[in-house]
Amino acid sequence: MCGIVGYIGKEQAAPILLEGLSRLEYRGYDSAGVAVFDGMSGTLAVHKAKGRLQVLSDQLHGGADLNSTAGVGHTRWATHGAPSDVNSHPQVSRSGRIAVVHNGIIENYAELKTFLLAQGVPFTSETDTEVVAQLIEYFYEGDLLAAVGRALRRIQGAYALGILCADCPDQIVAVRKDSPLILGYGEGCSFIASDVTAILRHTRRVGYMEDGELAVLTREGIQCYDHLMQPVRKDAVTIDWEIDAAEKGGYEHFMFKEIMEQPEALRRCLSPRIRQGEVVFEDFALSEEYLAAMNRIYIVACGSSYHVGMVGKYHLERLTRKPVEVALGSEFRYMDPIVDEHTLVIVISQSGETLDTMAALREARRLGGHILSIVNVVGSSIARESDQVLYTWAGPEIAVATTKAYTTQLALLSLLALWMGNRLGTVSQEEYRRAAAAFLELPGKMEEVLSRRDGIQYLASQYFNHDSIFFIGRNLDYALGLEGSLKLKEISYIHSEAYASGELKHGTISLIEEGTLVVALGTYEALFAKAMSNIVEVKARGASVLALTTQGRREEMAQTADAVMTIPDLHQLLLPCLGVVPLQLFAYYVALMRGCDIDKPRNLAKSVTVE
Ligand code: M6R
Repeated sequence: MCGIVGYIGKEQAAPILLEGLSRLEYRGYDSAGVAVFDGMSGTLAVHKAKGRLQVLSDQLHGGADLNSTAGVGHTRWATHGAPSDVNSHPQVSRSGRIAVVHNGIIENYAELKTFLLAQGVPFTSETDTEVVAQLIEYFYEGDLLAAVGRALRRIQGAYALGILCADCPDQIVAVRKDSPLILGYGEGCSFIASDVTAILRHTRRVGYMEDGELAVLTREGIQCYDHLMQPVRKDAVTIDWEIDAAEKGGYEHFMFKEIMEQPEALRRCLSPRIRQGEVVFEDFALSEEYLAAMNRIYIVACGSSYHVGMVGKYHLERLTRKPVEVALGSEFRYMDPIVDEHTLVIVISQSGETLDTMAALREARRLGGHILSIVNVVGSSIARESDQVLYTWAGPEIAVATTKAYTTQLALLSLLALWMGNRLGTVSQEEYRRAAAAFLELPGKMEEVLSRRDGIQYLASQYFNHDSIFFIGRNLDYALGLEGSLKLKEISYIHSEAYASGELKHGTISLIEEGTLVVALGTYEALFAKAMSNIVEVKARGASVLALTTQGRREEMAQTADAVMTIPDLHQLLLPCLGVVPLQLFAYYVALMRGCDIDKPRNLAKSVTVE
């Protein structure tokens, strides 16, 4: 999605803005632009270009052409109006004296545009953002903050805004509502950014803007205001991870680096939470009374995080004997969900900014549910709006296709299920101890899978030119198939679907013909025989079967499937976490062989902050 960077200080702004924007490229975008104060002429210099950031950077010689110490930059992911130079941000007012960069959507832009057109204000772009620039100018009478405040009272929707005014060369105004914006505190300089990676090279001290807040950035510091324009104090927090963690470090793709980082991410996530054979959550607690009275659990998430929830449902129901529903963030609000004060709502999000998931969280809170989130990005909106947070500590994830965030979310949700089962007394002590010990074995077993990646690369070379691939499995393997299929389709653009194996004969099997590739998942020991019979069914209709199973079942599987990938034997609770790794690698190598843009697949964004 769109990215924002703003800088005001003593150094030349444009190179800082362009470098910051390059750190946001991973979010997905289709055009880029910057606006800076031109001190000589007292105007704003605005430069925009459709396409890669490099196009803009080349035009500006890396920013060297723009002699200014304050400005804002933007990478745009088109919503209103096609990707083009004119629709790129910054958008400027009719006089060119107000420039705005914007993430989010102005819902009532058409109504505001009609109003402004009636006042004789001409428009040049198709964007909703231009309305913001024009409206601020409409209200501007020499006080930028006051004009922004008046404009905001008319604007509905979600927005993070960075605003420049040619009359105020010593300030940038920032605003946030339902779209993340971070403040950066430097020595003699201040920053805004939609993601901390954009400014981490310059400062580690950041502040998180709350919904409805405004900020005035100067070289001397940052003053925040609430929606009533009352000054608010904001404490800076220090980011404790290194910028290298968000760099490729010699790998060809972020996705591959992040796949390889999974054992380490899992150690970070799990080791502090398992001590002397006990599951210990220092970061949160749910009392025994609360757990006993809990009437149901909702898991709410989107995309891969939703797939984590699908696996989690099986684990939670088995271990806690409480009913669990998994809902898509985008559907939850419209389901008339049954939530009250005895309902635990587990919200899962890597970014902590997914708008649909956030909207579901707010609906669940309105209905009285207790919100526990599983989030990777510390200080993100979902984390801050939850009653309790479990952080995955996976480190920054840059590739659009999630890998290490998925496995850490899944491991953490599985650990939570075990912990709850133990507290509720619905899991035997024997199973509790055995499973707790298995969590500590998981990273090492995953290293084994990764060390055998050449075999998966070979299989990818055999199958990469298929047009359509089916993933089948039952129960945990079905949930795993959903993620394997999404991983493959999002980065390789191969049409792929996941089905619960038992459903095939109710329709889908008519699509199976000579040579169709079926990835059959058979890691769930209890249903291994069923998995085998479904494999036989598709083979009888001409399918080629690439199977995934445990090492213990390899020989048996090899007698029927055309090719077999294996994972080490481990406690059932953790097999989906391990089983996803060959599927991630398969998707990666297939996409590599098809020449796809692996880290930034077409049309996709890392963090989806629009509905
Ligand atoms: O940041 P979130 O976990 O809330 O993101 C949810 C989905 O957008 C995300 O998992 C998406 O499906 C990924 N591209 C999958 O690889």
